[in-house]
Amino acid sequence: MSVHTTQVRVSVPALTACKGKQKIAALTAYIAPIARMLDEHLDMILVGDSTAMVGYAMPDTLSITVDMMAAHAAAVVRATQHACIVVDMPFGSYQESPQQAFANASRMLAASGAQAVKLEGGQVMAETTRFLVERGVPVLAHVGLMPQYVNTMGGYKAQGMTDAAAQRVLEDAVAHAQAGAWGVVLEGVAEGLGRRITESISIPTIGIGASPACDGQVLVTEDILGLTNGKIPKFAKPYADVGALISQAAAQYASEVRDGSFPTLDQCFGVKR
Ligand code: KIV
Repeated sequence: MSVHTTQVRVSVPALTACKGKQKIAALTAYIAPIARMLDEHLDMILVGDSTAMVGYAMPDTLSITVDMMAAHAAAVVRATQHACIVVDMPFGSYQESPQQAFANASRMLAASGAQAVKLEGGQVMAETTRFLVERGVPVLAHVGLMPQYVNTMGGYKAQGMTDAAAQRVLEDAVAHAQAGAWGVVLEGVAEGLGRRITESISIPTIGIGASPACDGQVLVTEDILGLTNGKIPKFAKPYADVGALISQAAAQYASEVRDGSFPTLDQCFGVKR
């Protein structure tokens, strides 16, 4: 059975039901034109807070706000009709208390029409996951390498490399699954750990630098389209060089403006022929 049908938006329960049956294909999108092109091919689109770095050239993901994320999610929802849309909860919008998380999650879902939120955090955030889920907010948990912890990690480092560290990440994933999360993003973990977590929990794991065994995969779209200044993370794969095409088109446009070959009368109004 495929969740990939036309015109009907993939639901959160449909994604959960993919576990063990069908891999979940997901990418990020922050703006309408990209979301429109991705939509028919994907089961899930993540409006990731990675837009802070990718779209706004910020040094990390910590400064993006609830209003900014809600605006991006609303644009992505308006431009799509098929994929399930999940929006990231920004740093500082949910860690304080489950009540704070619910206020901001419900605000983002109501403002955008997105279907679920994603939040980063280990076992300490499982209580928040339960609070949200019991109140109608589907949660995709994010464990392993959690970019919002960049300052506590001292950089972006793969996680779960020792037995003790791997056990902690496994327990994080289990805690969120038991709290009612519909899925778990596993980012930047040892391959064997990604596999082990996938086999240990009954909800889908969506990997990014985790394991081919995960129930699905998510990547930052710009990483696979050549739109990241030539810096491709180890876990991504270049599928197209759209960056080179854009650069080529801009160079040709600039040259035609400068040599007077653009615009021609074809691009002008009120020209009688
Ligand atoms: O913000 C993001 O894009 C993410 C994914 C890459 C998992 O969290």
